[in-house]
Amino acid sequence: RTIFVPRDAAALALGADAVAQAISREAEARGEAVEIVRNGSRGMIWLEPLVEVLDGETRMGFGPMTPDDVPALFDGGFRSHAKALGPVEEIPFFAAQTRLTFARCGLIDPLSIADCEVNGGLCGLRRALTMSPEEITAEVTESGLRGRGGAGFPTGIKWETVRKAPGDRKYIVCNADEGDSGTFADRMLMEGDPFCLIEGMVIAGLGTGADKGYVYLRSEYPHAIATMREAVGLARRAGLLGPSVLDSGRAFEIEIRVGAGAYVCGEETSLLNSLEGKRGVVRAKPPLPALEGFLGRPTVVNNVISLATVPVILDKGAKGFRQLGHNRSHGTIPIQVAGNVKHGGLFETAFGMSLGDLVEKVARGTATGRPVKAVQVGGPLGAYFRPDQFDTPFCYEAFDGEGGLVGHAGIVVFDDTVDMLEQARFAMEFCAIESCGKCTPCRIGAVRGVETLDKIRAGEPGQVELLEDLCETMRGGSLCALGGFTPYPVLSALTRFPDDFATTTEAAE
Ligand code: NAI
Ligand code: SF4
Repeated sequence: RTIFVPRDAAALALGADAVAQAISREAEARGEAVEIVRNGSRGMIWLEPLVEVLDGETRMGFGPMTPDDVPALFDGGFRSHAKALGPVEEIPFFAAQTRLTFARCGLIDPLSIADCEVNGGLCGLRRALTMSPEEITAEVTESGLRGRGGAGFPTGIKWETVRKAPGDRKYIVCNADEGDSGTFADRMLMEGDPFCLIEGMVIAGLGTGADKGYVYLRSEYPHAIATMREAVGLARRAGLLGPSVLDSGRAFEIEIRVGAGAYVCGEETSLLNSLEGKRGVVRAKPPLPALEGFLGRPTVVNNVISLATVPVILDKGAKGFRQLGHNRSHGTIPIQVAGNVKHGGLFETAFGMSLGDLVEKVARGTATGRPVKAVQVGGPLGAYFRPDQFDTPFCYEAFDGEGGLVGHAGIVVFDDTVDMLEQARFAMEFCAIESCGKCTPCRIGAVRGVETLDKIRAGEPGQVELLEDLCETMRGGSLCALGGFTPYPVLSALTRFPDDFATTTEAAE
């Protein structure tokens, strides 16, 4: 009998290890031979720990499991168990997805290259090894893939810039410093299918002429760090990394580096400084990292999901990927649904689904059962949306048009008990704490922003105008997105939820 118990950090936090131990104990007590595979997560976090039992070819799901639910698993009757969910891939949340980047996540043993290959892994790389660098970058450009870290810059054009840039050495840097609130796609991918990221990085190296890659991972992700380190070692031993990738004569090496917990180190230039052993302060652009990046050499800095999406594009071809999506947002996007929701998790789908469908049909509304008041899209620097904006399609263009951003595709839902002035204050406070201090609008502005919001709360007149003015200065005068985008959550809270900013004095008038 084969039983799958996730080793993903979210499942572990919810007790997956205790469930795995209970399965081993129960099997031993009954004298039954059981193979326990520690897979990644399927992304249905509200069902974790989600245990799967292989029934012929079908994976039957049970969750959320506790050790007390384990003995009944052995009593037979896949459908009679109190936590039985039926075939995992038929659970509506899962069945409604288009899984390309996350196709293997939760399906395979993350640290088995053989399991990865049997399920379509390394096909993209094998094809890339038969192509010229120009052909590889052209294919990525044709797919329409845009940077999944948040900014949505065309990945193929970035690679082409690096390919053409003069330089004795070039680098691929994977930005795995996933800092946006409510996001966990990078972590889930690295813990559930690390070879997919490694494959994407090797392809990036082949396309641009780089032979060295770094994964810059945040220290808050100990499980992802351990999995990636082990996967890189295994890849080296299997000849997937090293002086001759899959006996092609082309070299590529990867090193895992761990950051020290600053949000701003997810900004590409401060990440590069940190990688070089310097303080994580933002560098002015130009020069672009594509021309002068790590150690002054041409460098691709891509998010985990951008790189991990490349193998499936190379494998299945750019056209199919490009045909998916909405407007100029092509392909699929792993949307991370969090906050006050019934069904939180990762939902990979083609761009274009409406925000309302995501909140009401995918997330099934709030966990508290109260009405939704606000949804923040795109992390702490993203705008808040009201339910009357729920017809906004999930794509870069529509969110830009609504004064917001898709960002790293995290959505955080709030019910009607949320205080939007407090949320605006939180945005300013976050910026003040995380500011690298290089430029004045952000360093000083964020502190003034907190003070101004406190004054609004206290009912001091003229403060709303001051806040608007301050946001304008931060937006126009900040060097990077941290100071420049903090006005999005603040101003969207102010303009879309004005009642929460009506002070006691004004309200009384
Ligand atoms: P950006 O628009 O300045 O740059 C986007 C990317 O395109 C960069 O890698 C840049 O070097 C590259 N680029 C721009 N012009 C180029 C050209 N002509 N040739 C080659 N490459 C070029 O945006 P930035 O500041 O890098 O990122 C801001 C975004 O980061 C925000 O939209 C935000 O959503 C996101 N973000 C994501 C977080 C996460 O946890 N993933 C955390 C914080 C912010
Ligand atoms: Fe640093 Fe803030 Fe300026 Fe960005 S906006 S460079 S984080 S001070």
